[in-house]
Amino acid sequence: MKSYITTPIYYVNGSPHIGHAFTSVMADILKRNREALGYELMLSTGVDEHGQKNQEAAEDKGMSVTDYLDMRCTEFRNVFDKLDVTYDYFVRTSREGHKQAVAGMEQSIFDKDLIVKKNYTGIYCKGCEEFKKESDLTEDGQCALHPTMKVEQTDETNYFLKMEPFRERLLQHIADNPDWIQPEAFRNELTKMLSEPLDDLCISRPKARVTLGIELPFDQDFVTYVWFDALANYLTNIGWPDDAGYEAWWAECEHLIGKDILKPHGVYWPIMLMAAGLPLPKKLSVHSHWTGAGGVKMSKSIGNVVDPIEVIEKLGVDALRWYLARHMRADSDSQISVEFITQSYNTELGNKIGNLLSRAAKFSKARFDGKLPAPGALTAEDEAIRKAVVDATTGMGEWINLADIPARLQAIITVADEMNNYFAEQAPWDLIKNEETRERCQTVIYVTLDSLRVVMEALLQVIPGSAGKALKMLNAPEIATPWKPELDRLKGDSDLGEIETLFPRVQ
Ligand code: MSP
Repeated sequence: MKSYITTPIYYVNGSPHIGHAFTSVMADILKRNREALGYELMLSTGVDEHGQKNQEAAEDKGMSVTDYLDMRCTEFRNVFDKLDVTYDYFVRTSREGHKQAVAGMEQSIFDKDLIVKKNYTGIYCKGCEEFKKESDLTEDGQCALHPTMKVEQTDETNYFLKMEPFRERLLQHIADNPDWIQPEAFRNELTKMLSEPLDDLCISRPKARVTLGIELPFDQDFVTYVWFDALANYLTNIGWPDDAGYEAWWAECEHLIGKDILKPHGVYWPIMLMAAGLPLPKKLSVHSHWTGAGGVKMSKSIGNVVDPIEVIEKLGVDALRWYLARHMRADSDSQISVEFITQSYNTELGNKIGNLLSRAAKFSKARFDGKLPAPGALTAEDEAIRKAVVDATTGMGEWINLADIPARLQAIITVADEMNNYFAEQAPWDLIKNEETRERCQTVIYVTLDSLRVVMEALLQVIPGSAGKALKMLNAPEIATPWKPELDRLKGDSDLGEIETLFPRVQ
C-alpha cells in the first residue's frame, strides 16, 4: 500500500512564512497517519524557483540567480527541518532532470497540435504569475490577492495550451468522483469555474521579459510559464517519465493546496495531464487561509505576521504544530497570533496533557520506588475512562483527511479533560495514605499512565517530538504497525524514565 502526498512548491521571493509552514506540517501529519496505518509513504515539498518574481527578488538582493536560489532553498529546508517535516523528496525546479521532463511534456503536447502561438494583450499580475481579466481586478485596477505588486499591461506573442477541448471531460471526472476534491465548498467553486468556456492557457513567457525558466523545446525565444513548470513537479519528483516506479506512486497521489491556488490545481493541471495523455491525481485536498487576530490579513505594516521560526524559538515546534493542526479549518479561514498559540499551548498541551503526565508520573516514582505500580482489579470508573480514551483515539488509527484533523484532536482534548477529572476524583494522594487503599492507588496510577500512553501514541502523528519524549518517560514499548489504541501495553511494576516537564509554561 502506497501513499504519495504533495505540498505546493513555494516561491522563493521571500523567507518561508506561516502559510508555507502550515501546508507542509499538515502534509507531515497525514504522512505520519498513513505510516501508522502501515502505508509506504512519499512526501514531497520544496521550492518553485522560476518565474518573474523570483528573478526580480534575486536582482533586488544584488545576487546572482544561482546564489540567490541556493540561499533560499537552504533557508526553506532548514525551516522544514525545524518543523519536523519528514519530507522524502525536496523539490527544486532548477534540477536538470525536472527541466528535461517538463520540456518533454511540452513537446508531446505541442506534437498533438494542442499548443498554438498567438498575440495577447492583457493585464499581468506578477504575484499570481498570471494574466488577469478586468473582472478579476479591484476597483483601483489592482490584483485582489496582490494589491501592492501593481499589475502590468502586456502586449506579447506567446504560446497557448487549448483548454476548452478538455472542459467537459474534467467536469465529468468531478461529477463521477465526488471525493476527488475536498471539501465540498471547493468542489462547488471548481465546478463553477468550469461552467463557462475556458480561455486558452498561456504557457510561455518571452525571454525579453523573463529569463528564469525552462526554455521551450520548440522555440528558444521563450521560457515556460512558471505554473506549467511547477505543476509538473508532482510527476517529475517520482521519476516520470523514465522511471517505471512512478506509476504506482502517481496512482496514489494526493495534493494539499491552499484555496488561492485552486484554479492552477483544479483546472490547469488536470487539463495539462489530459493533454499529455496521463491520469489525473487521486485527490485534491484544499484548505483555507490563516488570518491575523480579528480576521485581519497578516501584513508587515500591521505587524501581525506570525513568523514560524520566532514561534519555534519561543514556544517550541510542537506548540506551533499543535496550534496549526488543532485550529485549522479546511473550508473557512482561521485566526492565528503568537498570543493564540501561547494560549492553546499553555491550556491544552500544558494544563490538560503535560501536567497530568508529570503529576501522575512523579507521584508514581516518588511513592512506588521509581516504578509504575501493577494494577489491581478495575472498577467501573477505571473501565469507563479507559473506554473513553480508546474511543477518543481510535480516529488516529484510521485514515485521516486534511479537513478531519481538528476534530480528531478535539476528541483527544475532550478525553484529556475526562482523564483529569478521573484523576482528581480518584485522588490517589488520599488512597496512598492507608494500607487498605494502597492497591486501589496503584490501579489509579496505572490506569492514568497507561491511558496517557495511548494518548501519546496517538499524538505521535501530530507532535512527534513531545509525544516521543513522553513515551520514553513512561518506558513504553515500541508501537506496532498498523497502530490502534490498545490498553495495558505498559508493564506493571516496571521502571519509569526520567520525568521532565513536557510543555513548560510560557507567559
Ligand atoms: N509556487 C506556487 C505554488 C506552485 S505548486 C505547483 C505558490 N507558491 S506560494 O509560495 O505563493 O505559496 C503557496 C502556498 O502557501 C499555497 O498553498 C497558499 O495557499 C499557502 N498560503 C499562503 N498564505 C497563506 C495563509 N495565510 N494561510 C494558509 N496558507 C497560505 O503559490
